[in-house]
Amino acid sequence: MSKTFSNMFFSFVLAFISLFLLFPPPQCNALTLQDCKFDAIYQLGDSIADTGNLIRESPQSRFASLPYGQNFFKKATGRCSNGLLMIDYIAQSAGVPLLDAYLNPNATFSHGHGMNFAVAGSTALPVNVLLEKRIVASVTNSSLSTQLDWMFTYFNGICYDDKDCHEKLKRSLFMVGEIGGNDYGYALFQGKTLEEVTAMVSDVVQAIKDAATRVIESGALRVIIPGIFPVGCFPIYLTGFQTNDSTAYDELHCLKGLNNFSMYHNERLQQAIQELTLQHPNIAIVYGDYYNTFLGLLRQARLLRFDVKSVQKACCGVGGEYNFNLTRDCGGPDVPVCPNPDDHISWDGVHLTQKAYNTMASWLIHDIFPKLQCFNPLI
Ligand SMILES: *[C@@H]1O[C@H](CO)[C@@H](O)[C@H](O)[C@H]1NC(C)=O
Ligand SMILES: *[C@@H]1O[C@H](CO)[C@@H](O)[C@H](O)[C@H]1NC(C)=O
Ligand SMILES: *[C@@H]1O[C@H](CO)[C@@H](O)[C@H](O)[C@H]1NC(C)=O
Ligand SMILES: *[C@@H]1O[C@H](CO)[C@@H](O)[C@H](O)[C@H]1NC(C)=O
Ligand SMILES: *[C@@H]1O[C@H](CO)[C@@H](O)[C@H](O)[C@H]1NC(C)=O
Repeated sequence: MSKTFSNMFFSFVLAFISLFLLFPPPQCNALTLQDCKFDAIYQLGDSIADTGNLIRESPQSRFASLPYGQNFFKKATGRCSNGLLMIDYIAQSAGVPLLDAYLNPNATFSHGHGMNFAVAGSTALPVNVLLEKRIVASVTNSSLSTQLDWMFTYFNGICYDDKDCHEKLKRSLFMVGEIGGNDYGYALFQGKTLEEVTAMVSDVVQAIKDAATRVIESGALRVIIPGIFPVGCFPIYLTGFQTNDSTAYDELHCLKGLNNFSMYHNERLQQAIQELTLQHPNIAIVYGDYYNTFLGLLRQARLLRFDVKSVQKACCGVGGEYNFNLTRDCGGPDVPVCPNPDDHISWDGVHLTQKAYNTMASWLIHDIFPKLQCFNPLI
């Protein structure tokens, strides 16, 4: 090999390796969480993780019928996507069954391997607290504190006492969120300004911190606390806050002000995680970086074989620049579904496609795995 060729070859290999380290292909780390030997996963949160709670509370919900679920289950399960969610890929990677929804009376298959308490549309703050700020949480009143109550009711059923619970939960993974995105979403769509919504961040982050504390006090050793998405890139916000002012958009055509707000929440959340870590030095409390992982999807869209012209258009939806109209949402009459959802990042303008969730989950697992300290007994 000539020197230049070998140099070139070397740089190519190096570039390839760095790309690979940053964004490894999904199949490469499909099994890593298995090394943690988790026997259960418990999930609190909203529609990003709901596997069937909201549709038991509200059977008339859009999420209770096709096209939701069409590409994996061939029927609606209550998951807000065309197929699997990140929590499903996390469960698969950990080698535990897909999580049952707590409110599903037929729940059996994840019995003893965890439970999903997440409810689509739910908020970090209790609905009455939001109401005091004149914000109506219209979808559900099963906010984070209700979900925690369900969780402790569930633990009372499987543990003899606190000591037994601590023992039983040692090999469990806890997901506290994503949650909080709806608190802000309801506020913004009900006319609150970004300044007013920014003033809510302390309370929302405190609610998440309190939930994590209760989870840790019940015996959790490994807790993931995800941040919120860059909502300024989502069709629902791009449509609702569309403007002719081109300086309002960043280089990915996302709304700067909204993404700046998401970053602010996420920074405050990470501060709270640091405080929790100081209080509980022997617990692995890990930030889930949904914000940057999602931006990675947009940046790598071509490489990931998304249709680059459609990365900000909903697959299931109709109208406007983003194929989204709040009054004609996915699942409604005469609302079309795109022929190939794998071309799209956004499923319905609010939630992602299975393919987007799959890619995000594999990147997140890669990022989170070393931080979970699975080879450290943590006692
Ligand atoms: C529970 O499962 C049975 C058998 O699959 C089914 O007939 C029934 O409708 C289910 N009940 C609910 C509430 O989903
Ligand atoms: C809200 O909570 C009340 C009880 O606190 C319950 O009766 C009602 O059905 C709930 N509403 C919704 C929409 O879930
Ligand atoms: C943008 O400009 C067009 C034409 O100048 C106008 O019709 C439209 O209402 C404007 N849209 C917004 C959101 O300001
Ligand atoms: C970004 O958010 C911070 C915190 O809310 C705020 O102080 C700042 O003005 C925002 N910047 C822009 C460009 O929106
Ligand atoms: C959304 O749909 C409604 C009802 O069909 C229609 O009146 C409205 O113009 C649509 N909005 C946009 C932005 O396309």
